[in-house]
Amino acid sequence: MTSNALMNNYGSRALTLVRGEGAYLWDDCGRRYLDALAGIAVCGLGHAHPAVTAAINEQASQLLHCSNLYNIPVQEHLAEVLTAVSGMDRAFFGNSGAEANEAAIKLARLFGHGKGIAVPTVIVMENSFHGRTLATLSATGSRKVQAGFEPLVRGFSRAPFDDIGAIETIAANNPEVVAVLVEPIQGEGGVRVPAADYLAKLRTLCDDRGWLLMLDEIQTANGRTGTYFNYQQQGVLPDVVTVAKGLANGVPIGACLARGVAAELMKPGSHGSTFGGNPLACAAALATVNTIVGDKLDANATAVGTWLHERFRHELAHCGRVRDIRGRGLMIGIELNAPCGELVNKAAELGVLINVTSESVIRLLPPLIFTNEQAAELVGTLSPLIRNF
Ligand SMILES: Cc1ncc(COP(=O)(O)O)c(C=O)c1O
Repeated sequence: MTSNALMNNYGSRALTLVRGEGAYLWDDCGRRYLDALAGIAVCGLGHAHPAVTAAINEQASQLLHCSNLYNIPVQEHLAEVLTAVSGMDRAFFGNSGAEANEAAIKLARLFGHGKGIAVPTVIVMENSFHGRTLATLSATGSRKVQAGFEPLVRGFSRAPFDDIGAIETIAANNPEVVAVLVEPIQGEGGVRVPAADYLAKLRTLCDDRGWLLMLDEIQTANGRTGTYFNYQQQGVLPDVVTVAKGLANGVPIGACLARGVAAELMKPGSHGSTFGGNPLACAAALATVNTIVGDKLDANATAVGTWLHERFRHELAHCGRVRDIRGRGLMIGIELNAPCGELVNKAAELGVLINVTSESVIRLLPPLIFTNEQAAELVGTLSPLIRNF
């Protein structure tokens, strides 16, 4: 039972997980589960990865926190590694995905005000998810996320996802637009993959209009879709990219990376965070990023993800319940033709942890270290469950 001392925002939770190792978790009764969710795309290296554990232990024995009033060499080192991996120029560190997106939205506002625009407007998409703070829930394309928290923050204009024509229409009618904020693959919105040339067309549109292209890669980055960032498969470079979730394998951290004019907008005092980029989180992130890159876990995500896609397509080929199987790398959505939230508990009863998003989309986000054997275990457990649902 979940304690009444907690606010009710998460509802009650069925499982109590107490230990993890690699792609497996154990509950308080000693039962083992195959983890096909990784803390919602967070623990990409799996649980208790020795490189992250060692980095945390070493940093904790030296210095947990000192504030951004002082130089933090490990934060600078992490910024250098992330800018090199991403092609961006500078980094700002916060503690979550929402804070990374807040920083991006603030960059758009500074950019717009610099052009003399009174209400700088960011184009955001239907069905998107950008976080739970007031600005990020206002940017989010879900009434469910916004309901009860009005008044919403101004300065957003909404377009359907994967619809360049709709953005051109907004461009023709709203001279206050300064940026586009978009997920390269919508995660919470149901693992929606846009047309192959969507980002490239957005890049051209932003260049033509003088807008910032801001990508929310909070769920898609850190190797999850087969490259460190998803845009690296699309031949585009954004002006701003946000990253969090899998950045430190479970230690809270988020980053807003920017290049060119967007990287020069912040001035001393314009933004900040007490904990953001503290030594502990940065040491964990550095170990995580170096392991993802060094062990080529993005390539493993492609290999195991492709195998999973093919096996699920084969196993579910004649299942009338299945509408679509989609995704990239180890970000996979299996859309059914009816709400299927109850599959989460049914799969857990069979020893597999999965997620359902957008009511009818089974979302699989296993750790990037997933092996072929673990992938086979996942397909073997989940396919009959879906067929018999
Ligand atoms: C695409 C995207 N953006 C932002 C967020 C918000 O991140 P956080 O929960 O760390 O604030 C999420 C979380 O699911 C996300 O998937």
